[in-house]
Amino acid sequence: MSSFKDYLNNNRDLVNSFLEDYLSEPFLPPKLHESVRYSLMAGGKRVRPILCMAAYEACGGDPKDILPQAAALELIHTYSLVHDDLPAMDDDDLRRGRPTNHIVFGEAMAILAGDALLTDAFRIFSESKTISAEKLIAGTCELAASAGIFGMVAGQAQDIISEKAEPDRETLEFIHLNKTAALIKCAVRIGALLSQAGPDTVDHLTEYGKKIGLAFQVVDDILDIVSSTEELGKPSGSDQEKSKMTYPSLYGIERSREIAAELVDNAKTAAGKIEGDPSILIDLADYLLERTN
Ligand code: IPE
Ligand code: IPE
Ligand code: MG
Ligand code: MG
Ligand code: MG
Repeated sequence: MSSFKDYLNNNRDLVNSFLEDYLSEPFLPPKLHESVRYSLMAGGKRVRPILCMAAYEACGGDPKDILPQAAALELIHTYSLVHDDLPAMDDDDLRRGRPTNHIVFGEAMAILAGDALLTDAFRIFSESKTISAEKLIAGTCELAASAGIFGMVAGQAQDIISEKAEPDRETLEFIHLNKTAALIKCAVRIGALLSQAGPDTVDHLTEYGKKIGLAFQVVDDILDIVSSTEELGKPSGSDQEKSKMTYPSLYGIERSREIAAELVDNAKTAAGKIEGDPSILIDLADYLLERTN
């Protein structure tokens, strides 16, 4: 188990040092640079890049080869958090243990930092010395679809539209599959698509990514209720305050826990079918279920 901890730490360090290098190239104006750095380097778990590299490694690749593509996922994820916290969206004032971007830099700079992160992610993603242009194009399409209209933005829109509405199974699943699972599934799929994996393995990893992605948001909903602001680094109780449609609001906490565990079980079964070594992906699925922040 401690070797899995080492694995997580090593890969988090790889991502963090890539992002440090990325930020060492100054861009103007300095306030935009500061605002981007502030949110990007605030200590996130780096789950999406780690999953992307783990999928690539499970399919026989060297994860360092796709570090820029994995880091691009973290840029997009960080943009989504900066915008998610804005007064017009969830109106939260704490993120990754610090005041949110708009509290420190103002709303306009927070919006622009998010825009910068989203857009620059595609520049970073498209540059590679090791991956073929054909694979990079497939990955770019995947990323755009999952982060945008056919994924995260659709989910975020439905999340806002559904505030204060009576929860129903179908809407709730749509929100969670899109606002969160889409980018997580995309991280895993990109790892597979950039590797030499065959179509069956890509399919199994797609199933794995979708299930852990949905479980990830179910756990996020549960933690919002049962964990403290200090532990989370973001305000606990935020969902109830905004009358969000969440798994606990429809199913209660106990059933939500069971659902998350079932999803993770299904994910592990799918990972077990790949041609390659699924052990890290299986440990990652357990980690995402058992996490406390
Ligand atoms: C939080 O994501 C937003 C959700 C999609 C639930 P993470 O829990 O991965 O946040 P960080 O990156 O570790 O801060
Ligand atoms: C956010 O869901 C999903 C995103 C795309 C950012 P939440 O609104 O529940 O995320 P947190 O709890 O603020 O991190
Ligand atoms: Mg939200
Ligand atoms: Mg939020
Ligand atoms: Mg939440």
